[in-house]
Formats: sequence, structure tokens, C-alpha cells
Amino acid sequence: MIDSPADFETPILEMRDIVKSFPGVKALKGVSLELRSGEALGLIGENGAGKSTLIKALGGVHLPDSGDIRLAGREVSLRSPSISQSEGIAIIHQEFSLAPNLNSRENLFLGKEKTQYGFIDYRSEEEQARILFESLGMKIDLDRRCCDLTVAEQQTVEIARALASDARIIVMDEPTAALSQQEVDKLLAIIEDLKRKGIAIIYISHRLEEVLSLADRITVLRDGETVAEETNVSGVSKKQLIEWMVGRSLDEEFPKRNPTIGPVRLSVKGLSRGQAVQNANFDLRGGEVLGIAGLVGSGRTELARLLFGADKADTGSVTLDGEAVEFENPRYAIERGICLLTEDRKEQGLILVHSAVENFGLPNLKVFVRNVLLDQGKERTAFEAYVDSLKIKVSSVSQQVGNLSGGNQQKVVLAKWLQRNADILIFDEPTRGIDVGAKYEIYLLINQLVAAGKSVLLISSELSEVIGMSDRILVMREGRIQGEIENGQGTTQEAILSMALDT
Ligand SMILES: Nc1ncnc2c1ncn2[C@@H]1O[C@H](COP(=O)(O)OP(=O)(O)OP(=O)(O)O)[C@@H](O)[C@H]1O
Ligand SMILES: [Mg+2]
Repeated sequence: MIDSPADFETPILEMRDIVKSFPGVKALKGVSLELRSGEALGLIGENGAGKSTLIKALGGVHLPDSGDIRLAGREVSLRSPSISQSEGIAIIHQEFSLAPNLNSRENLFLGKEKTQYGFIDYRSEEEQARILFESLGMKIDLDRRCCDLTVAEQQTVEIARALASDARIIVMDEPTAALSQQEVDKLLAIIEDLKRKGIAIIYISHRLEEVLSLADRITVLRDGETVAEETNVSGVSKKQLIEWMVGRSLDEEFPKRNPTIGPVRLSVKGLSRGQAVQNANFDLRGGEVLGIAGLVGSGRTELARLLFGADKADTGSVTLDGEAVEFENPRYAIERGICLLTEDRKEQGLILVHSAVENFGLPNLKVFVRNVLLDQGKERTAFEAYVDSLKIKVSSVSQQVGNLSGGNQQKVVLAKWLQRNADILIFDEPTRGIDVGAKYEIYLLINQLVAAGKSVLLISSELSEVIGMSDRILVMREGRIQGEIENGQGTTQEAILSMALDT
């Protein structure tokens, strides 16, 4: 076979035999990859497989123990993030790295401010920021501090920041975890455009359809090793990717459930708060999974916060088992058996320097305290059961939470709330950043919860998940519940989307 000229081209990036160990874990056991200009490489693997660690080696965050990195054939030592940036590498990290007290414009141009006669040129920065956000399909208030932005907005700022730099290589580590289909489509179009401009992309995602639709090549990691490299992406199925990732085949994506729907538990009438939630009316029954779909900013999270007492409604009423309730703050909601797993891990109060088991025990102290003393054995046993059922990858239960992979941090949050044994569980993007295998375990858990008569409100940006798991679906648009769908065989993503977009 005669190689095409492109095959002779020196890759813009080569990583060879990268090894990286942390105390107790060998995160990378000799991983190699190559990337050419104008090409998108999909990098996939289970939670804890080593994807982010590999990317951090490229970003100058971690120095590999051994192995080498070449840029256009030249060996480099990426000893710090600024060296990596100056080599033309831009990384959108999985855990956002925005300066919380700066606004989105300041974050975009941090360290590379546009100046004119020595002064910052706010006008031109604002202009460029507006164009970037618009191209990503998001309206973002340029004067708001980043800590006051929603997760999706922060994610958009991260993406825009990478685009604003003149990078030759852009790495996106879970860029769409908080985005809904519409924003994802915009990002995919932008990536196509970047490729045409000769920029090389590494794209990490647990949303395998996205990877299949944009990647020219796919590399699969498992336990710090490369288990597959696929160059013929159009010939590969999602099923095959899953098999490479988890080492076995997964026959169905969503476990079946035979719901026995009970009486109304929570009844919401005319609930409103500003523009965010307007006149919401619905019931939630025992044994039911009620899905909420909608675009980012459609009011799903705001609705959840109202039910949980995190925000106060302007008007409207909520009854729980027939009794009117008005929660002053989340503590009262929790006491009445309502819990909210928020989409924001940081806000969940994971204390990153504490161990996994301590984080798990924290909101559950009541359960684990005996005679004033914390029964650590009991706490540990309870946590170990979740480590097992949710397949949380920890070197030991005492491992620092901050050192867990992104998806495994999310699982600790989930375990923490499940242990509370609430009756009504509001899940806001529960599988964000979680791999396919572990997602299935979470779905099984949701099924167990409703089989035990509990109620689940499932907010998700992944339409397939909403359809796969819900008994009924509410579709929100611009603060209003636009429609309700009795979920059945015939429900399609298109039907939900058109309601969410009002087309
Ligand atoms: N700073 C650190 N200290 C100790 N262990 C770490 C550190 N960073 C990562 N690890 C460990 O290295 C392994 C690989 O983690 P990594 O974050 O690269 O996984 P990942 O593939 O990105 O997973 P996810 O899909 O959940 O984001 C995990 O076992 C993780 O706990
Ligand atoms: Mg990661």
C-alpha cells in the first residue's frame, strides 16, 4: 500500500510512553498518542482511566515520571502551565480554573490582556468576548463575576478562553458535561471550523455520540493503558466503544423498570420566581421518575432550588402529602425528606482536602454518631457498600477527594445523598461526567429507589437519559413548563427538542 502524503507529515504532537504515578496509584503506565494538524482525536475511557492525568502532563500541570513529548518533532519539557501555553497548547480543564472574583471578560483575557498605548482596551475585549459567546450560542453578562455564573455559563467561558488564545492544539476535557444538545451542536460546529483552520483537537467526553460525530481517530484508555486505537471512526459503533472502555459489552443502556405509581406526594401550583420560573404546575407521585428536560437556562435548576428551599418563590404553593409546606431553607426540606443533588460539585461542599469517607459521613453524622462519638467503623462500612455498588475508584476510602478523578468525585456526592435515605430525590444532572458503565449502576439505583416507593425528579441535559429513565417528562422553556409527555415507546428526542425550542 502506498501511504498518502499526509502520513509522512510530522505530527504536531507526539506523547510517547508517558508514565505517571501518584502515591498508591499508577495513573499512566506508558501511554502514547499522536496528533496531526487539523485533526480531532477522541480520548475516552472509564472514570479514573487516566485521561485527565495525560492531559495535565501536556498542560504542564504534572511532570511525567518518564516518557517524552514532542511538538512538531521537537522534544519539549512542559514544566509549567505557562510554558505549555507559550508552546501553543490551550486546555479546557475538567475542573474549571476560572478566577471566581473576576468577570467573564477579565477571565477570558487573563494574562493576555488587549492593550492600547499601555492601557487595557476594554472596548475591543468586550467586542471579542461578545462575538465568542455568541458563536457558542450563549448570552453571558460580561460584568458578572464568574462565581455567580451557572455551571453551563462557566463552561462556556472556559471554552471561549481556549478559543481566544492563539493555540495550535486545543484540548477539551469534558467540555459539554453541563451543556444541553443545542449548545453542544454549536460547539461541534466550532470544532469543525477549528479543524479547517489547521488546529489540532483532543476531545475527552463520556458522551460517546459526540465523540463518534467529531473524532477522526479515537484512543481508548483503561487503567492507565491504551486498550484501543481506532482510525476508522465511521466504521465503529457506540457498542464497540463501550466494550473497549469497560472491557465487557453492555446490552442495554437503560435498565427496565415496571413502575407502580403511587399517590401524589408533592403537588406544585402556580409556583413562580421572577422570570426564572413562571407558573409551574405539576404533581410528583410515589414510585415515579419525573424527568425535566429543557435547554440550559430554561429554569430547570431554578425550579429544583425552589422546591428545596434554596430560593424563595414569589407566588405559588407546594404541598407535601397534602400539607402545605414553605421551606425557609434547605435544612427544613432535608428534614421533611427532600434532597437535592445539585449540578455544581463545588457547591455540593466536597471538601477536597478531606478523605472520601469523611466527605461521605459529613452530612450523615447523625446516623453515625453513638454516645457522642463518631462510629468510624459504621461510617466506613456504609461507605464501602457504596464504593462497591457505584464502583467508586479509590485507592482506599481514606484517599483525599481532591485526588479522585472527576467522575469519581461525583459518585462520592451521590453516595452522600443516597445515605440520607430521603423520600423525594431531586437529581440535577446526576450522571454528569460519569462513564457509561457507572451510569448504568446509577440508573439501577434510581430504579431501586422508586421501587421502594420513593419519588425522583430527574433533571438532565441528555435527552436519551430523560427518555430512557422517566415515566413522565416535563419540558421547560424560558421559565415555563411548556408541556408534559407521558413517556412511552413513541417518545422521541425530536419531539422534546421542538417543545424546548418552540419550533
Ligand atoms: N493528584 C493526584 N493524586 C493522587 N491520585 C491522583 C491524582 N490525580 C489523579 N489521581 C488518580 O489517578 C487516576 C486517574 O485519574 P484521572 O483523573 O486521570 O482519570 P480520568 O480518566 O480523567 O477520569 P474521569 O472520567 O472520572 O474524569 C485515578 O485513580 C485518580 O484517583
Ligand atoms: Mg478526568
